[in-house]
Amino acid sequence: MLFETNRKDMSTANKVNKSKVTTHVLQEMKLKGEKIAMLTAYDFSFAKILDDSGIDILLVGDSASNVMAGFDSTLPITLNDMIYHASSVVRAAKRPLVVVDLPFGTYQGNSKEALHSSIRIMKEAGANAVKIEGGKEVVESVKRIISAGIPVMGHLGLTPQSIHKFGTYVVRATEEKEANQLRKDAKLLEEAGCFALILEKIPAELAGEVTKEVKIPVIGIGAGGQVDGQVLVLHDMLGITQDFSPRFLRRYHNLKEEIMGSVQEYIKDVKSGDFPNEREQY
Ligand code: KIV
Repeated sequence: MLFETNRKDMSTANKVNKSKVTTHVLQEMKLKGEKIAMLTAYDFSFAKILDDSGIDILLVGDSASNVMAGFDSTLPITLNDMIYHASSVVRAAKRPLVVVDLPFGTYQGNSKEALHSSIRIMKEAGANAVKIEGGKEVVESVKRIISAGIPVMGHLGLTPQSIHKFGTYVVRATEEKEANQLRKDAKLLEEAGCFALILEKIPAELAGEVTKEVKIPVIGIGAGGQVDGQVLVLHDMLGITQDFSPRFLRRYHNLKEEIMGSVQEYIKDVKSGDFPNEREQY
């Protein structure tokens, strides 16, 4: 049974589109109305599976701080940590565009610092683009990074690096003032040269309006279906993490339960002496 599933997965892998996704391809997808599928990845093995599955964009998100390192926010992860995760993902990702988060404290100082951090990500990890949280306050940095030939993805709405300013992970931009500012920020980021935008946890109607107002692709997470694409945190959608269940999260699997089942079977086999058997030894 297990092997049959694997064979089916392999034949699917052989059929997926293999041509490299670039920022230009994403722009064309928006024009054609073709939705963009994006997931996070932090290591080689998962990135390889996602690449074989035909994902369009891999985000080496600073959510690695929560998912991989067990911190309760995205703030502690360092630039060196991000470069380590990103270089592992890049080694596996042949087709998807690999976008890497600029972690907290590596770009807010000034645009020179932002450029320096971005160059390290591109040079040491071999990424294709960087992502930066914020609106008008990061525009100067966005311009400077792009002037060095590095594509930048913007991120508005719930920006987790500002959690201590927000004080809560509730939906953003429900009030007119914040919604208007978000619209302005989206325009500013587009004018500054961002190739795409993430909108996180904002009302679906607002996200749909912003998507129409800008020419660059808009990818949503908790931002409804009227955007150009979707992103989820891989470990959440696979059901590896179970203690995070926002309304926008669709779980495609209960991998934690499946892994625990296999591990418990292994423990039982080791303890009973059933593993290894005669065929499993030299
Ligand atoms: O770090 C991350 O995973 C992200 C996504 C939630 C968009 O920024």
